Amino acid sequence: MKSIQLSGWFFLAVVTLMILPISVLPEQEVRNENEVAATYTPVNFWEDVYPILEQNCFRCHNDRKQLGGFRADQRGSYFKSGAAALIIPGKSNQSALVEIISGKRMNMRSASSHVLSENEISIISNWIDEGAVWPDK
Ligand code: HEC
Repeated sequence: MKSIQLSGWFFLAVVTLMILPISVLPEQEVRNENEVAATYTPVNFWEDVYPILEQNCFRCHNDRKQLGGFRADQRGSYFKSGAAALIIPGKSNQSALVEIISGKRMNMRSASSHVLSENEISIISNWIDEGAVWPDK
């Protein structure tokens, strides 16, 4: 009788030990995902993207000097429809702007003055993938 009681407790203990990790693990995973989500800050156009364009593009593409017929300081230049579109919101890998700043558009005479750093390319790519929102100032 006593041994049956003992093995009953033992059985319970074993079952508890087996269930514990299963019930605890997913909770931890969810918590980690939330932490990642909480620390990721979306790209801010005026703080993160505009200064890159200003520093690297405006001197050749401004209101008075528009090399290649392009003006870099206004929203409309980037979002033309059809083949002329430099930015396709949500699709950095299909956006000509990313092709140009990565140095992958080789038919440009001045391709080298268009190549940005890895970090700048990733900021602009992330901004495009997040919808390329260019808010009014
Ligand atoms: C040193 C001057 C210079 C700088 C800086 C410069 N560009 Fe250009 N850009 C040119 C010239 C010259 C052309 C004419 C096209 C060519 O070179 O084939 C051009 C053309 C372009 C075009 C038209 C391309 C096409 O295929 O129609 C775009 C878009 C462009 N630039 C975007 C940019 C962006 C974005 C930046 C900043 C990252 C930038 N440019 C920086 C000189 C410059």
